[in-house]
Amino acid sequence: MPTDIDHAQRAFTPVAPPRLIHEMYSPDELNRLFGVLEREGPWRSIAAQTFSSAEEFLAVAGAGRNPAEVRLSDLITPTFRGYFAQQAVALHEEVQDVFYSSRLLNQVKQMFGAKYALPAQFFFNVRAPARSLDAGHFDPQVWRGMDMMKVPVWLSAVMAKSGLFDRWEVRTGQVITYFYRLAEDGGFTYWPDGPARAPRRFPAPFWNDAVVVHNPRMFHRGEASGPVAERDNPAQFCLESVVAAEGPDHWVIRNGDEVIARHPSENMRFLFHYGARVFSDLDEVSRYYDHTDDLDLDMVFEILVHDLRRRGVKFTEPSDPLTDQGFVKALSATYAVAPTSYPEEAPVDKVPA
Ligand SMILES: [Fe+2]
Repeated sequence: MPTDIDHAQRAFTPVAPPRLIHEMYSPDELNRLFGVLEREGPWRSIAAQTFSSAEEFLAVAGAGRNPAEVRLSDLITPTFRGYFAQQAVALHEEVQDVFYSSRLLNQVKQMFGAKYALPAQFFFNVRAPARSLDAGHFDPQVWRGMDMMKVPVWLSAVMAKSGLFDRWEVRTGQVITYFYRLAEDGGFTYWPDGPARAPRRFPAPFWNDAVVVHNPRMFHRGEASGPVAERDNPAQFCLESVVAAEGPDHWVIRNGDEVIARHPSENMRFLFHYGARVFSDLDEVSRYYDHTDDLDLDMVFEILVHDLRRRGVKFTEPSDPLTDQGFVKALSATYAVAPTSYPEEAPVDKVPA
């Protein structure tokens, strides 16, 4: 009988290992993309946009940490996110051609050997100097009938780890481009052979260097970045803090109008994350657009509750499964999967005392 470890190894082994591409964007494209970052902010933190509790965070990137011993405010880092495009729609006309370019789309199609594909998302991360508290995560999967607008990240992670929803999966691939000029850490760690095997890494520095990846099926993480002495969170850093460019040479973190940290641009780490959905044939395209074989939240919870019972897990059936913290914990513990080793050069940082 297959073990859960076999399942996790299979479920989190990508269709292909990451492929590196240098000089991903033209100088003109870079000007326009960075123009959006510098002009259109401020940008909110990823944590504020994604998680409402430590349990939710740990469901995605727990790696054995005990929810009772951590608070969300201990786990967040000054990493911020904004969107070039969302839900297949470009939000800024000056980068619309980049989002819909065949060059990006074909990278993803080639990785899967897929005939059809659809650009789906395009966002950027702006990271001030920070530790890496990320013990390895995978990006949200997509299922027919469910997408990021409907599924909280913790539930998406549980669904992916359980393997119970694979038949509804819409496969996605990513082109992630890194910008970080320092050689102090700041690389990309990834587990191309599954979470139980040794990781590999792309070390920094990089500028306009991309990886073509299958990130919903591969554990990965951004490493600590920025000068070591600058990596403590600003004293007043909180979920509501935002980041914005201040002229061409600096970025500031603010609480409202109050600046709580200022960093030279060369200490910042940026990434552009492009994602596309792929389809093997036109039947699969039809199933996706015609909604003839969709999941919904009721089905998801029915399937999960049935599986917990089958496994003999003790839990109280929740009246509101989306927000019941006891239920979130039971699911996260049942389907726990996490990397088991880290690169010597890039350990997981300790949560600061
Ligand atoms: Fe990721």
